[in-house]
Amino acid sequence: MTIKQVMVIGAGQMGAGIAQVCAQSGYNVFLHDANEQALHNGMEGIKKRLAKAVDKSRITESEKQEAIDRLTPATEMEDVSKCDMAIEAIVENADVKKNVFRELDAHAPSHAILATNTSSVSITEIAAATNRPEQVIGMHFMNPVPVMKLVEIIRGLQTSDDTYTKIADMASALSKTSVEVDDAPGFAANRILMPMINEAIFAVHEGVASVEDVDTVMKLGMNHPMGPLTLADFIGLDTCLYIMEVLHDGYKDSKYRPCPLLRKYVNAGWLGKKSGRGFYQYES
Ligand code: NAI
Repeated sequence: MTIKQVMVIGAGQMGAGIAQVCAQSGYNVFLHDANEQALHNGMEGIKKRLAKAVDKSRITESEKQEAIDRLTPATEMEDVSKCDMAIEAIVENADVKKNVFRELDAHAPSHAILATNTSSVSITEIAAATNRPEQVIGMHFMNPVPVMKLVEIIRGLQTSDDTYTKIADMASALSKTSVEVDDAPGFAANRILMPMINEAIFAVHEGVASVEDVDTVMKLGMNHPMGPLTLADFIGLDTCLYIMEVLHDGYKDSKYRPCPLLRKYVNAGWLGKKSGRGFYQYES
C-alpha cells in the first residue's frame, strides 16, 4: 500500500500548512475542520501563500494550480473512508483528540495510518483509543510548516515498524528531514525548547533583564534567529504554558515548573501575537 490520499483534520495554523505541503508534494488531500469558517480561512490561506510563492518565483503558476486542484475541502470527517492516512492537527486537548481518533478509526479503511501533530499529548494514549494502535503515530511538524524542515516522528508503545517506515518515507516525500523520537513528555523538540523559553520568562520575572534585552542576548549572543520571548509570543503563551505543565506533570521535576509570570499573562488573556499582546504588543 502506498499513501496517495490524505485527510488533514484541523484547518488552523498547522493543519492548513500540512495540507499545503502534502498537496504540493503530489498527495490528494481532503482538508477537514469542524468549523466551516475555519475551513474556508484555511483554504484561502493556502491559496494566498501559493500565490505569494509564484510572485517570488519559488513555484510556477501551473505548480500552484496543480496543488490547488489536489485539495478538497471536506465538511464531513467520514471522507476519511477514501484515504490511506490521516493527520490530525486540532486543538491541543487529549480528550478531544481521542474522540476524533475514535471517529477516524470507525470510518478509515483498515489499512489507513492515523497520525497526530500533537505537541505534547501521549501517542500511546491516543493510540489506545483506537482499534488499530499499531497504525497510530506522531508526526510533529514545526511552525510554519511550509518553511520548517523538521518533522519529529514519535512512536507510541504500540506503533509498528511498518507504520514508522511508511511515515518516515512520507516525511522524505514532503522534503522534510525526520528524526525518530520516543513517546516521552514534550518529545524532543519541546523538551529542549520550552524550558529555555520558561527560563527566559523567569529572567524577566526576577528582574535579571528586560524583555528586549533577554531577546537580544539570545539573538546576538547565541545567534538564534529570534529571541525566546518573541518566539513564545509567536507560538502562543497558552500553548507554552500547556507544554510546561505536561513536562512538569510528566517528569515530576521542579526544574519544569512553569514561571508564575507566564501563568499570569495567560490568565490575563495575553496569549501573544494571536491575541494582540504578549511580551510585546501587536497591531490587531
Ligand atoms: P489552531 O487553533 O490554529 O487550529 C486548530 C483547528 O482545529 C481550528 O481551526 C479548529 O476549528 C479545529 N478543530 C478543533 N476541534 C476540532 C474537531 N473536533 N474536529 C475538527 N476540527 C477541530 O491550532 P494549531 O496551532 O494549528 O495547532 C494544532 C495542533 O498542532 C495542536 O495539537 C498543537 O499542539 C500542534 N502544534 C502546534 C504548533 C504551533 O506552533 N502552533 C507547532 C507544532 C504542533
